Amino acid sequence: MKILGIETSCDETSAAVVEDGAKVLSNVVASSQEMHVKTGGIVPEVAAREQVKSVIPVTNEALKKANLTKNEIDAIAVTVGPGLVGSLLIGVETAKTLAWIWKKPLIPVNHLYAHIYSVFLDNATPPPLPAVCLIASGGHTDLVLFKSHKDITWIGGTVDDAAGEAFDKVARILDLGYPGGPVISKVAEECRMAISDLRFQNKKETLKLPRPLIQEDNLDFSFSGLKTAVLRAFESKLYPTPEIAYEFQEAVVDCLVKKTIKATEKFGAKSIIVGGGVAANQRLRFLIGKNAENLCSRTQVQNIQVHFPSLKYCGDNGAMIASAGFFNNKPAKDLFLVDVDPGLHF
Ligand code: KG4
Ligand code: ZN
Repeated sequence: MKILGIETSCDETSAAVVEDGAKVLSNVVASSQEMHVKTGGIVPEVAAREQVKSVIPVTNEALKKANLTKNEIDAIAVTVGPGLVGSLLIGVETAKTLAWIWKKPLIPVNHLYAHIYSVFLDNATPPPLPAVCLIASGGHTDLVLFKSHKDITWIGGTVDDAAGEAFDKVARILDLGYPGGPVISKVAEECRMAISDLRFQNKKETLKLPRPLIQEDNLDFSFSGLKTAVLRAFESKLYPTPEIAYEFQEAVVDCLVKKTIKATEKFGAKSIIVGGGVAANQRLRFLIGKNAENLCSRTQVQNIQVHFPSLKYCGDNGAMIASAGFFNNKPAKDLFLVDVDPGLHF
């Protein structure tokens, strides 16, 4: 089954064709991110206008790259939420129109579920279930238990800011640019060796930021206090910017890893799936892997597999939408009743 996936929830316009949920025949992504660099964050009106310009060319290119005509597509899947209402509307109205003209089923997709399916793409080995999934992006940070394609349950999440949002806001405080995740992790990794030398030699007072909720007996996160702690450290002028970036990344990653591993142990999960923009973070990738191994040896549970998407599928893309549409195939009964749902959750 070949599904055309359309994604326009934020500042990426993407269309892809995926066969049987796993074989990516094409995945085209246009981004208005560069326009938001100037403003230091996404301006919804600007993002929506760019979606209008890109959605048809990107969809055409996805079909062309897959070497398919519209007749060879079996269904259209589209993100209906969560996201920015103006951006979502462009994708949803386009998908509805195409589905009506081409006489294809339309599958509404929850963007958050779709991030999970990014680990199924390019015929990757499917993760053994049950899996604990950490979905960490610019708008969301959630833990869910994935028992089957029809049984995905929310088990915890952030009580305030999303992890990616914290990276973006801290990068703004430190004047490092936008988006914050890639730039902070670059500065932090450059700083890692220097920091460990300093700590080893005990030459100076090193910065220690809080790890909010890390000791709490729940599966929740909180990042807004951490952001305030960064602001205080920055304003104190006691610490160089790279050290703040380094310690901030350590704090966020510690929290994400601790609660993900806690959930894995609690539910006896056979695998861990990490998705969303923050899944591109190399420190997170390394520490989830290392802590999953430790959990295996500590509990004698064999082989907790760790599944990260390849880097090209961490950010928003149409391929994961098509894949989610295939595995969780619930076509709309009435095409005209499909609507955007900006506040959609798990
Ligand atoms: O999933 P995504 O592309 O869009 C949303 O659905 O929000 O996630 C974007 C977020 C941004 O906040 C960005 O700063 C963050 O993912 N991000 C990262 C990294 N790359 C992107 N955060 C930490 N480390 C990274 N390497
Ligand atoms: Zn996303």
